[in-house]
Amino acid sequence: MKALQDKIRQEGTVLSDRVLKVDSFLNHQVDPELMAAIGQEFAARYAEAGVGKVLTLESSGIAPAVMTALALKVPMIFARKQKSLTLNEDLIVKTVYSFTKEQKNEVAVSKKFLSPGEKVLIIDDFLAYGEAALGMAQIVEASGAVVAGIGIVIEKSFQNGADKLREAGYRVDSLARIASLADKQVTFLEE
Ligand code: G4P
Ligand code: NA
Ligand code: NA
Repeated sequence: MKALQDKIRQEGTVLSDRVLKVDSFLNHQVDPELMAAIGQEFAARYAEAGVGKVLTLESSGIAPAVMTALALKVPMIFARKQKSLTLNEDLIVKTVYSFTKEQKNEVAVSKKFLSPGEKVLIIDDFLAYGEAALGMAQIVEASGAVVAGIGIVIEKSFQNGADKLREAGYRVDSLARIASLADKQVTFLEE
């Protein structure tokens, strides 16, 4: 998606060979027009997929996910991260390990918002090692719903998340695919 690549080139900061900072439009301040365009792009790609819900993980997935849900005219759910969960039989909980942060997070969605057979589009801001997306997919499947696909705003293709998700059989749609962050430069896969 050209507008997204341009924005990354203009405003992204390469913090290291593995980390891209995009806090001026995605991870802190949010660009609503770009998010709306991102939502329309995901909605167009999944127009024929029968999506009934969009699922993301708080917090940075919420902006692109809600715009996607708006364009598809379906509800959006954000999975919640909770440090300690008291017994609550209405929650589906998965543990997600973050290689970037070297910590475990419990991620939870209330059962009442996912129905058996329903098709769910998972959206996230970044794809690194794929653990967050896999955790969300497991939550969808535990509810009896079906993963329609996984839509990613920025995929770091030099990490193994996209391969892992495709090997697990999921459709993955990434709007920007970064081949390398070496030498403080963003190099996209399609160039
Ligand atoms: P994974 O799910 O693909 O395995 O990724 P990982 O656990 O390594 O990512 C941990 C957090 O770091 C996630 O945000 C993810 O979106 C973010 N992240 C990963 N790589 C980058 C990067 O290069 N740049 C930026 N800006 N973020 C990155 P989170 O902890 O869920 O935080 P948030 O959603 O509240 O922002
Ligand atoms: Na993030
Ligand atoms: Na995220």
